[in-house]
Amino acid sequence: MESNKRGAFIVFEGCDRVGKSTQSNQLCERLKEKGIAAKKINFPNRSTIIGDVINRFLKNTQELSHEVIHLLFSANRWECMSSIQADLLAGTTIICDRYAYSGVVYSVAKGLDLDWCWAPDLGLLKPDAVFYLKANPDQLASRGSFGNERYEKLELQRKVSDLFDHFNKKESSYWHQFDALQTEQELHSKISTIAENLLLQVAEQPLERLT
Ligand code: TYD
Ligand code: MG
Repeated sequence: MESNKRGAFIVFEGCDRVGKSTQSNQLCERLKEKGIAAKKINFPNRSTIIGDVINRFLKNTQELSHEVIHLLFSANRWECMSSIQADLLAGTTIICDRYAYSGVVYSVAKGLDLDWCWAPDLGLLKPDAVFYLKANPDQLASRGSFGNERYEKLELQRKVSDLFDHFNKKESSYWHQFDALQTEQELHSKISTIAENLLLQVAEQPLERLT
């Protein structure tokens, strides 16, 4: 009989420009090259109706209060839950660029209460691992100038970075911190090793929810 092995749910977090997209894409490609079913997704998912509103907000063509945009970011994750769950249970590993931690961190950096921010994300699928790419935002400045999106400003990124550190400490049982300033290749190799071990570990474990 075929065993029911599920995929792993792996999230990348960190400040803007820290290399999440590059590393998450590379990890996904590597797993696929090894014959492992894997899918790369990212939040915000701008392809939905809610995602379109979020996109307009980020591009500064739509103003929304802190509370409203926060709830939309969360709703944008909720609308993808059933498809993520179905993929995981079908054995596909999900590599996700940003998740609920980004949701909380950016909103708290703007002044909202942490517990209030966390509440709408309670009950979302819990990642098996969070790969936290860390670099001082001031050091990231050498990677060229920010784009024009709303949060791409040094002052805010500094707060965001401190808040990610807070999560990294608090959730240390499944967060893995990586120095984002090492070479792309080194980073990829370390991340892949942890990810490949994780796939074996979680294959028979039930999915959990954020609490
Ligand atoms: P980002 O990952 O930078 O998108 P892209 O890869 O398309 O550039 O996300 C856009 C911004 O949205 C980023 O500054 C972080 C912010 N964000 C939130 O404020 N809350 C959230 O819940 C998420 C997922 C992202
Ligand atoms: Mg960005």
